[in-house]
Amino acid sequence: MERTQIKNISVKGIDSSFLISGWVEKVRDHGGVIFLDIRDVSGLMQVVVEPDDEDLFKKSEFIRMSYVLEVKGILRKRPEGTINDSLASGELEIVSKEINILSKSKPLPFQLDEHTKVGEEVRLKYRYLDLRRPEMQSNLKIRSQVNHIIRSYFIEDQFIEIETPMMARATPEGARDFLVPSRLYNKKFYALTQSPQLFKQMLMIGGFEKYFQIVRCFRDEDTRKDRQPEFTQLDIELSFVKEEEILNISERLIKRIFSEILNLEFEDFQRIKHQDAIKDYGSDKPDFRNPLKLIDVKDIFENSSFKVFADPAKNEKARIVALKIKQEVSRNKIDEYTKFVGNFGAKGLAYIKVNDSADLEKGLQSPILKFLSEEEISNLAKRLEFATGDTIFFGADHRNVVNYSMSALREKLGEDLNLIDLQAYKFGWITDFPLFEEDIQGNLSPSHHPFTATQGGLSALKKDPANAVAKAYDLILNGSEVGGGSLRINDLEEQLEVMSILGIDKKEADEKFGFFLEALSYGCPPHGGIAFGLDRLIMLLCKQESIRDVIAFPKTQSATCLLSDAPSLIDQDQLDMLSIKVIDEDT
Ligand code: AMO
Ligand code: AMP
Repeated sequence: MERTQIKNISVKGIDSSFLISGWVEKVRDHGGVIFLDIRDVSGLMQVVVEPDDEDLFKKSEFIRMSYVLEVKGILRKRPEGTINDSLASGELEIVSKEINILSKSKPLPFQLDEHTKVGEEVRLKYRYLDLRRPEMQSNLKIRSQVNHIIRSYFIEDQFIEIETPMMARATPEGARDFLVPSRLYNKKFYALTQSPQLFKQMLMIGGFEKYFQIVRCFRDEDTRKDRQPEFTQLDIELSFVKEEEILNISERLIKRIFSEILNLEFEDFQRIKHQDAIKDYGSDKPDFRNPLKLIDVKDIFENSSFKVFADPAKNEKARIVALKIKQEVSRNKIDEYTKFVGNFGAKGLAYIKVNDSADLEKGLQSPILKFLSEEEISNLAKRLEFATGDTIFFGADHRNVVNYSMSALREKLGEDLNLIDLQAYKFGWITDFPLFEEDIQGNLSPSHHPFTATQGGLSALKKDPANAVAKAYDLILNGSEVGGGSLRINDLEEQLEVMSILGIDKKEADEKFGFFLEALSYGCPPHGGIAFGLDRLIMLLCKQESIRDVIAFPKTQSATCLLSDAPSLIDQDQLDMLSIKVIDEDT
């Protein structure tokens, strides 16, 4: 008899024989009748073992949770009153005629339906059990569907899927490399690629106009909920292309994924220039579901006698912003928020409570009022449109500190005050990124990577590098960066100029990626592309809290694999073969 998957069994088959197989999810012994819930990849079926078949009944008494069974039996309708509406097969059951135990199981280290209680460590140690949970099954099925949609979409559009090496040379892309020692070449190492960036650019030089790849990338960074040391990108590159085309191709793909998987349709994604995102949200990946915005008030305090505001008001690199909420906030909460912004480097959190907006003299409450002039208060009231019941918070400092701390406060207030529709998906493109980021010490580093082209080309780059604008863009979904890309430099001189601004001279550049600089000098078409963080995108699509919930065998937050216990020590023989001497830090 052929095996039938549970999802294919319906009322039409009543009174017919079926053979099903799967895991025992539950055993219930109802004094005289045994019920076994059997789950296969497609669904759940109740199997009844009746006492009249004595041999079968005896055998069934030894069946435990998670045994793998093969059951032959007759399908029937469940008796009235025992129907389970929450289950596809809830009105059916199979009366067993034959049961084969295909594999026994020890008692599980945790009940699969109690996964939240046992914590992630246990789930990851026994990941193969955790994967049996319907939620994990569904997440990974969706992931496979997304891959399928991506492949069809690009192949239909004449893109070519090309695999690039993962063992390559270390190149400067921002994160630390994972290194692989070479056995054949003493003292030499491969680096696992952080992304196929240089290879995909060389594919363009190699004459492929439209490339894509679903590719594993490796970065030795501190992991977070939305980061893994190895993760998957959807990587795209095109020649003779304009930024607009890359955004459109990407947007159509994302819309198609959400339409096919969730049946959701979206308007065109909003596009915001980087400088406007920073102005309104203090962040280049704002959660657009959150309606709060930062409001600049620096100009109001140019001649202030309140030192906390007066100093930043005179400093070109400083910023003063207000964040208004239409709600009263208790003293305790204000203390909590002050501490919170402190974690992001803010030295304090000035605030004003508006008890009566009609009376600016007596209707406001704040420890800073005594330092502010009547004019400053009335300007603030106008700019912020004070209304009775409002609370206003202020951040004043170097712009990096203000952006970092006040964008975090904006997010926190959005959550605490339930301003965010958690079911919604809000996309947005951030465009016109600065080419470089400047830290508080004034050091420049690439805001994407050093292969990004500048608006206005070489002359703009030479004129004012700190303020140069890149042809670069990110896609944001619900406050997460799900993709980023740019048009690339296709001119050797411009590439060397970027390197020199970053403090890499020609000699060092030649040493580190001379091969790429050389490639640039053999007719490089104008090109550009983007890469999406596929794990992140799928995490958000599946409404999961952690990237680990959409990866079959993820690493923990501390970059270990609890299941296989990696990383691990290596045998001395193997180390010798690689000419590696390990220094034991404990001794
Ligand atoms: P970028 O470094 O922005 O760009 O990476 C692209 C996207 O990959 C995702 N991502 C990650 N996801 C999980 N874990 C990580 N550790 C991790 N790091 C990044 C993010 C990010 O938006 N070569 C360029 C792309 C290009 O210019 O075409 C690049 O790698 O969602
Ligand atoms: P102080 O004069 O330091 O007691 O600060 C007066 C008020 O300004 C307090 O409410 C502080 O929390 C707040 N404050 C201090 N520094 C800053 C800052 N950099 N940005 C915003 N508010 C601040």
